[in-house]
Amino acid sequence: MKNTLITGANGQLGHCLRDLAKEYQDKYRFFYTDVAELDITDAAAIDKYIIDNQINVIINAAAYTAVDRAEDDEGNAYRINCTAVANLANAAKKHGVSLFHISTDYVFSGDSSKPHEEIDTPAPKSVYGATKLAGERAIEGSGCQAVVIRTSWLFSEYGNNFVKTMLRLGAERESLRVVCDQIGGPTYAGDLARVVFLLMEKGLDQSGTEFYHFANEGVCSWFDFSKAIMEIGGLGCRVEAIPSSDYPAKARRPAFSLFNLGKIKAATGSDIPYWRDSLTLVINKLQEK
Ligand SMILES: NC(=O)c1ccc[n+]([C@@H]2O[C@H](COP(=O)([O-])OP(=O)(O)OC[C@H]3O[C@@H](n4cnc5c(N)ncnc54)[C@H](OP(=O)(O)O)[C@@H]3O)[C@@H](O)[C@H]2O)c1
Repeated sequence: MKNTLITGANGQLGHCLRDLAKEYQDKYRFFYTDVAELDITDAAAIDKYIIDNQINVIINAAAYTAVDRAEDDEGNAYRINCTAVANLANAAKKHGVSLFHISTDYVFSGDSSKPHEEIDTPAPKSVYGATKLAGERAIEGSGCQAVVIRTSWLFSEYGNNFVKTMLRLGAERESLRVVCDQIGGPTYAGDLARVVFLLMEKGLDQSGTEFYHFANEGVCSWFDFSKAIMEIGGLGCRVEAIPSSDYPAKARRPAFSLFNLGKIKAATGSDIPYWRDSLTLVINKLQEK
């Protein structure tokens, strides 16, 4: 039995990891914590938790994810996305624990029109992206055995996300304006959770940090994504395409944010669901509730 700590277990990904963990209970004993049980900004608390519970693996699903708020709240974003990640990585190194961590497409500028490979040079445009990149570098610097999975446009039946917001607004309004010049890959948090477990099962044979990119198959703009949400959700709301310049946001976002998925597909040996199929699954789950 491997004792596996899941931090940030009340978030979107955390919930999906909990759901999937039921399939792995014969091999792993899971410990779920969020900020109330284990604040990962507290290095001593992490140390104690690992020792007390003889933890072998950490999956870090905790993060500061409010992209626009981070622009005015850099200290907190940095504390959670970098200092706390360094705490986990240093503890992982000290106790011989494997670390699985999630990062973001926002570490890239999105100025190129080529799908990002793991070896591409990051150049974040936002505070959120910069703090997540600092977290990645803290893991690399610690020398612990780690996997970092960068993902994009996360959605699920849990928490707050774009799909739930669109379904709510689509039921309230006759029309919505959505940006059509930011291109990316939506990712169902349940599909990401599956990949985390597949990599965990595979085991970490490397020393140091291995990077992977993961999103659902396919590509779309936020406009395309919104249109699909309305169609699948059975909502009559009209969606109008607008340029980003007509929807000013605090944080700058990458214009082209697609991942090259070759490395993760080779590592897991499994197909990745198309975003529209996973979106249909999530909307069905939400409408069953
Ligand atoms: N959401 C996206 O679109 C997106 C896109 C790309 C990458 N990602 C990455 O994917 C991962 C999972 O994202 P998500 O959407 O599942 O995040 P989420 O729903 O915001 O969940 C994050 C969880 O971490 C908790 N947390 C915050 N500070 C903590 C602390 N000091 N100690 C312990 N827990 C703490 C949060 O609690 P509170 O809610 O109380 O703060 C929340 O429950 C993150 O690494 C994120 O950066 C997300």
